[in-house]
Amino acid sequence: MKLVTAIVRPEKFKDIKSALESYGVQGMTVQNVHGYGQQRGHTEVYRGAEYTVDLLEKVRVEILVDDHQATDIVDVIVSSANTGRAGDGKVWVTDVHQAVRVRTGERDETAL
Ligand SMILES: Nc1ncnc2c1ncn2[C@@H]1O[C@H](COP(=O)(O)OP(=O)(O)OP(=O)(O)O)[C@@H](O)[C@H]1O
Ligand SMILES: [Mg+2]
Repeated sequence: MKLVTAIVRPEKFKDIKSALESYGVQGMTVQNVHGYGQQRGHTEVYRGAEYTVDLLEKVRVEILVDDHQATDIVDVIVSSANTGRAGDGKVWVTDVHQAVRVRTGERDETAL
C-alpha cells in the first residue's frame, strides 16, 4: 500500500476532489494547513497583491491506495491541481506497512 500526500491550493481543491472521485478513490483525508516552498511564501500573489507572509494557506490531501493505483492518482492530482504558477503545491508517495478497518478488523488491501 502507498500513502499519497498532496499539498495543494485551497481554491483548486474542489476540482481535485472531483477528479479523484471520477478516478474512483475509496476515501481521503483533508486538512487545512499552512506552509511554504522554495519562494518561502513571499513572491506569491493573492487577489492581485503580493503578500509578505511566509506561511500560505494550503490544503493537505491524503489517500491510502493499492500500490498499482499510486502513479495514476499522482497524475490525477497533478493535472487537476496545476495552474502553472508558483505555489501549485507538491505531491509525494510513501510506503505503508499496515492498515486496519476498525469496524471489521480487516487488514491491509482489504481494509482500504
Ligand atoms: N520541501 C517541502 N517539505 C514539506 N512541504 C513542502 C515542501 N515544499 C513545499 N511544501 C508544501 O507545499 C506547499 C506548496 O509548495 P510550492 O508549490 O510553493 O512548492 P515549490 O517547491 O515552492 O514550487 P513552486 O516553485 O512551483 O512554488 C507549501 O506551502 C508547503 O506546504
Ligand atoms: Mg513555491
